[in-house]
Order: sequence, then structure tokens, then C-alpha cells
Amino acid sequence: MNQSPSRPSSGLVAALVVTGVLGLTALAATWFVMYDRARTDDAGVQAEATAEYGRRLIAQTNMLIGPDHPDPEMRFAGNRLNCGSCHLQTGEMTGQLSLTETYQKYPRYSGRDGREADLKDRIDGCMERSMNGRVLPRDGVELNAMVAYIKALSEEFAAMPAMAKAINEPSPFRTPERAASPEAGRDVYAEKCALCHGRDGLGLRASADPRRGYIFPPLWGDDTYNNGAGMTRVITASRFIKAKMPFGKPDLTDDEAYDVAAFINAQPRPMMSQDRLNLDYPDKSTKPVDSPYPPFGDPFPAEQHKFGPFQPIEAYYKKK
Ligand code: HEC
Ligand code: HEC
Repeated sequence: MNQSPSRPSSGLVAALVVTGVLGLTALAATWFVMYDRARTDDAGVQAEATAEYGRRLIAQTNMLIGPDHPDPEMRFAGNRLNCGSCHLQTGEMTGQLSLTETYQKYPRYSGRDGREADLKDRIDGCMERSMNGRVLPRDGVELNAMVAYIKALSEEFAAMPAMAKAINEPSPFRTPERAASPEAGRDVYAEKCALCHGRDGLGLRASADPRRGYIFPPLWGDDTYNNGAGMTRVITASRFIKAKMPFGKPDLTDDEAYDVAAFINAQPRPMMSQDRLNLDYPDKSTKPVDSPYPPFGDPFPAEQHKFGPFQPIEAYYKKK
């Protein structure tokens, strides 16, 4: 009497187990296919101008719009960095080069462009220089997605409690009153940077597939930011390096950051056409004192714009 219900039920259990196993296999197969698809689709097929796509563009720039993209039309970046190589944690990390308070700043006057620039213009500035590439279509999905992401990020950040906005980095960089020394910087580099970025400064690739980019990005050579980029300004680079490098435990003094920035900037990198650079800062008095490339609006030598000392140049413009 007890057995009769148990028999069909064990059959049922067996049936359920079989269906379950089949179901799981089917699910796993679907997941595998979809996962694979999703990765192929990183090539832009399902691209929509959402904040989520914008976030991926900043995290995986090389994969999505880099120089090895299978579709030549989608090759916008000229190097294999990601925006996130400098705008750490997809721009979410507070402090130097954070994108958490960016959206509200635009449009605003750009000395480099000599006119008011909106957020799209600013992103394109990094596309042409930091990414050594070309501008994105102004009404295209990619630019709109990045704007959507930066907008969402800035709005989220603005709504956060003050405590959560705390900036966790060393005291801000103060420019030493001397010329930076690339020779001294070489030693800092060997001791504090080469471990990750490589003795040759060429970084560490994630895999043999160039679309996977770098684990540790290159600081010089053909595959990094060009000479028109903000990071080639010694003061801008020193600020970032002091605040954020070595990655995870920044501990450089102002002097070390200054010298290692000079050392990096003294190494070869992609060059923008000088004809193009001549157009930067139509009003030369708005050109940052550490902009390393000519023309300059003052009598100081090019060498001093590269390595300092910068205080005399600042004093010259203050007087004017
Ligand atoms: C090699 C480092 C580097 C890379 C890579 C890079 N940027 Fe930048 N970015 C900078 C620097 C330096 C600045 C300027 C900071 C300054 O003016 O002091 C900047 C400024 C910006 C700003 C303005 C921020 C503000 O608050 O005003 C935006 C927006 C921006 N970058 C977006 C991007 C995007 C999008 C990408 C990828 C397509 C990118 N950047 C790649 C270094 C980089
Ligand atoms: C522990 C490894 C590590 C060390 C040591 C380190 N970095 Fe980095 N660095 C990184 C990583 C990782 C990134 C990119 C972050 C990302 O992609 O999320 C980076 C990014 C950078 C960038 C911006 C991206 C680029 O390619 O230009 C600069 C500049 C930089 N590091 C300079 C330095 C300097 C100078 C030192 C030595 C003082 C140093 N780093 C030490 C890991 C390291």
C-alpha cells in the first residue's frame, strides 16, 4: 500500500532528473552561444547609445573601436590604450582624471580650440591625442553613448553623500622650483614603474591577440598617446603619477613624480602633424606653460616648456 505511490514517484524523479540534466545542458549551451555572441557583438553590432555601451567603450576602447577592429570603419583609436587606462576604473575613481564631475563642466571655453567646446569635442580631443586616433562621428552611437555614460556617472556622483566622495590619494602635486631631470627620472622609473610597464616602457600585453590590449599599458613607443596629448605635459603627468602611480599604492614624492614624468616624456612616441599643432591655442597666452610643443607665445626656450622650471614662465604671463 505504501509502495504503489512510491513507484510512479521514483519514475517521476528519474524523468525529472533526465529532463533537468537535458535542460541544464541546453541552458549551458545557450549561455555559451549567447556569451560568445555578446563578445562578437562587442564589435558594435548591438551598439546602442546607452550609458551601458558608453561604459564599455571607456573600459574596452581597444576592443570596440581600436586599430585591430575587423571592420576598418570602426577603427577610430590609433593605439591600444583604453580611455580607462588614464581615467581609472572607467572614470569612476575619484581624484586625478576622474570623470565623476565632468558632465556639468560642459560646454565651456577651450583655449586649445579657441572656442566654446562641448563634451563631444572634449572626448574627441582625447580620441585624436590620448588615443592617437580620429574623431568619432558627431551624431554617431559611440559618441552619444559615451556622453550618456558620463552624464549618468556625473549625476550619480552628485547625488552621493559627501563621505562617499572622499578622494583617497596623496597630497596634491606641487611643482618643484627647478627643471625636472629625466636622468633622475630614469632611476625612479627602474625602481617604481618598470615592474609593470616594462623596462622598455612598452607595457605588458594581455594576450597574443592585440584586440585584448594590455594589462599594463605602454608609456612610450608606437602604441600609446601622442605628443599632442595632455599626458605629455610634465605638470599634468606629474599630478596624475603622484596621485595614482604606482597603481594601487601611490607613494612618490613631488620630486620623484616630476622627474619620472620628464623621463617618460623624453621617450619617443607617436607624433601629431606640426601643421595641426600650430593651430592649437590660437591665443598663445592661453597655452599651458608645460605644453611641450611649439609655437610658444613667450621668449622661453622649448626645453624649458618641456622640463621647466615653470615658475618664471608663469610669472612672465602674470605680468603681461
Ligand atoms: C593617455 C591618457 C588618456 C587617455 C587614454 C584618455 N584620456 Fe581623457 N584626458 C586625459 C588628460 C590628461 C585630460 C586632461 C586633464 C587636464 O586638462 O588637466 C583628459 C581629459 C578628458 C576629459 C575632460 C574631463 C573633465 O572633467 O573636463 C574627458 C571627457 C575625457 N578626457 C574623455 C576621454 C575619453 C572618452 C577617452 C577615450 C576615448 C580618453 N579620455 C582617453 C588623459 C587621457
Ligand atoms: C603595479 C603595476 C603598476 C606600477 C608599478 C605602475 N603602474 Fe602605471 N599603470 C598601471 C595600470 C594597471 C594602469 C592602467 C590602469 C587601467 O587600465 O585600469 C597604469 C596606467 C599608467 C599611466 C596612464 C596610461 C598610459 O599608458 O600612459 C601612466 C602615465 C602610468 N601608469 C605611469 C606610471 C609610472 C610613472 C609609474 C612609476 C612611478 C607606474 N605607472 C607604476 C600599473 C602600474
